[in-house]
Amino acid sequence: MKPRVYLATAALLMLSGAPLAAQDASKGEAVFKRCRACHAIGPGAANKAGPALTGIVGRKAGTVPGFNYSDAMKAAGAGGLTWTDDKLAQFLEAPDTTIPGNVMASAGIKNPTDRADLIAFLKLHR
Ligand code: HEC
Repeated sequence: MKPRVYLATAALLMLSGAPLAAQDASKGEAVFKRCRACHAIGPGAANKAGPALTGIVGRKAGTVPGFNYSDAMKAAGAGGLTWTDDKLAQFLEAPDTTIPGNVMASAGIKNPTDRADLIAFLKLHR
């Protein structure tokens, strides 16, 4: 019995010692389920109803090749919008009011922890 308890304790310690970002990203993957209907991500991801999100963090808005963006999203990119953590967080909280006229039909992610986890997940796919 005892060795098992030790093993379990060691496993727990290893888990809690893991980098925070990795834990957040794995929770973020679950949050990303709310995006998958319209967005693919990862190597070779294709555009769906929404543009592929591979490499989205740090990229200029409205610039995935072959995706037919709204004028509002194209204008945001042309006006200098780059998807930093902060800009993504603002947009994902309230897509329609952050970029009026964009056509992403999503209510947004209101919970700040969910949003942070989601952005950590997006960053895994550069
Ligand atoms: C109902 C479909 C739909 C859902 C659900 C959706 N999106 Fe979108 N998303 C779109 C569309 C369409 C666009 C392009 C909007 C435009 O051109 O105005 C877009 C654009 C974006 C952009 C800007 C992309 C770029 O290249 O500039 C980001 C970032 C984004 N979505 C993230 C998300 C995330 C994260 C989620 C999940 C919380 C999500 N979206 C949920 C359809 C969706």
